[in-house]
Amino acid sequence: MRETDYFKLLYEAGIAISSTDNIEQLFHIILTSVTLGDGLGFNRAALFLVDKKEGIIKGVLGVGPDSAKEAARIWDGLKNLNLKGKMSEWLLNEINIEAQNKSKFCKEVQSIQYRIEESPIVQKLLQTKQPILLKAGQEKEIDRQITDKIILEEFAISPLISRSNLIGFMLVDNFFNKKPITEDDLNILLLFSNRVAIAIENLLNIEEYKQLNRMLISIQTRLLQDESLKKLGAATASVIHEVKNVLLGISGFFNRLKEYIPEDEGKATRYVEIIEKELQRLDRLVIDISRFSKTSTKSVQTYFDINQIVQNAIKLVKEQTTNKDIEFQCLLDKDAKQCYGNADRIEQVLLNLLNNAVDALRLKRMGKIMVKTGTDDKYVSVSVQDNAGGINLDVMPHIFKPFYTTKSDGTGLGLSIVKQIVQEHNGKIEIDNKIGEGVTFTIKLLKEKSNEKEDFSDRR
Ligand SMILES: Nc1ncnc2c1ncn2[C@@H]1O[C@H](COP(=O)(O)OP(=O)(O)OP(=O)(O)O)[C@@H](O)[C@H]1O
Ligand SMILES: [Mg+2]
Repeated sequence: MRETDYFKLLYEAGIAISSTDNIEQLFHIILTSVTLGDGLGFNRAALFLVDKKEGIIKGVLGVGPDSAKEAARIWDGLKNLNLKGKMSEWLLNEINIEAQNKSKFCKEVQSIQYRIEESPIVQKLLQTKQPILLKAGQEKEIDRQITDKIILEEFAISPLISRSNLIGFMLVDNFFNKKPITEDDLNILLLFSNRVAIAIENLLNIEEYKQLNRMLISIQTRLLQDESLKKLGAATASVIHEVKNVLLGISGFFNRLKEYIPEDEGKATRYVEIIEKELQRLDRLVIDISRFSKTSTKSVQTYFDINQIVQNAIKLVKEQTTNKDIEFQCLLDKDAKQCYGNADRIEQVLLNLLNNAVDALRLKRMGKIMVKTGTDDKYVSVSVQDNAGGINLDVMPHIFKPFYTTKSDGTGLGLSIVKQIVQEHNGKIEIDNKIGEGVTFTIKLLKEKSNEKEDFSDRR
């Protein structure tokens, strides 16, 4: 090929390359230009790109026939194509991308992926920034992963360098017609590679930008969902209000009905017991949901004695616990008295934590629950510790999600309510989870009225 033809090729391919904003199409244009009879005319070409984030180099695309027969067919076809002056148009519109993607050679190239530090080619290209010409037998100088997957005889590798960064390399060979690769071929390949590298990097940057944009849109959608969650919360609150009234009615009539059924009435008594249990469960669910969906701007905030609240809560839980094997221990710090907030809601926090501990100890003998209070400059703390074996690691990420439960009779709202109330108080929750031992939940509450803006309404 004469020099002017080379420049024509660079010019035509250059137009096609800068006319596309589709990265996949760009890869096809590049490799097709390199393999076109009217172009550089290599038999096969493959593109490898560096993924800096992952620290790997991977095969992106391979273009070339899979057999000598196919090669002959393609070349015959190309002979009839007169691309003079129309090559850029042809590259943009006529490449059969699907067929190229399906070729065995392409699949082989795309299956190559390995770490950059394992690549002698990358090291060499980084040093010399020049094409490398290798012959069969010199495989030691080339990356194993490539020679394992592609049969190579004589081949050349050209660096893709954009703004002094090596972004990948192109591999070319004349596997079928065995035409030797000349010094001129290498020079023109390098010129072409430089042009190509900038185009690839630009489009990769645009791809990254698009991806970022997609991420922002997804975040925005989620925020909007949060907005609709709030609406859902409000709707739930009014539904629950209605359910509560109905439930009250049913419970009232149920209690009256019960009086008509004599004790020891066999099946009837059993059914009554079941209905009663279910009603209690429903009642608890209604109370939990209404607590959860209630915004607490109206909750009264005062100074109160945390030790008193702890004692109340333990008493309540002890009374309700059927497993009498559980030992409750209480270590109250006299200095931890004063704390600012809504005493009822903090008691709810403690009840939820204590109930969880009791539930976790359900099947355990020698269960122990230890409640401690403490204080520092800013906070009063309460911790609830159990010896039930801790929270499984796969459960842990979900425990604060509303309606997440591992219990057959749980609503999964206990800890969501805990989180909500503590946030309303500008407090903190800490968890010390020791698998095989137990878990300690520590709640920290402000000692003094907070100067921070007390807008609790949207904290959910
Ligand atoms: N002390 C604990 N030990 C082990 N697992 C716990 C403990 N506390 C919470 N969990 C786990 O966290 C899950 C969520 O707790 P949460 O209090 O939110 O809901 P729940 O107890 O399942 O139901 P609800 O409290 O509404 O009756 C529980 O189902 C349980 O798997
Ligand atoms: Mg619970």
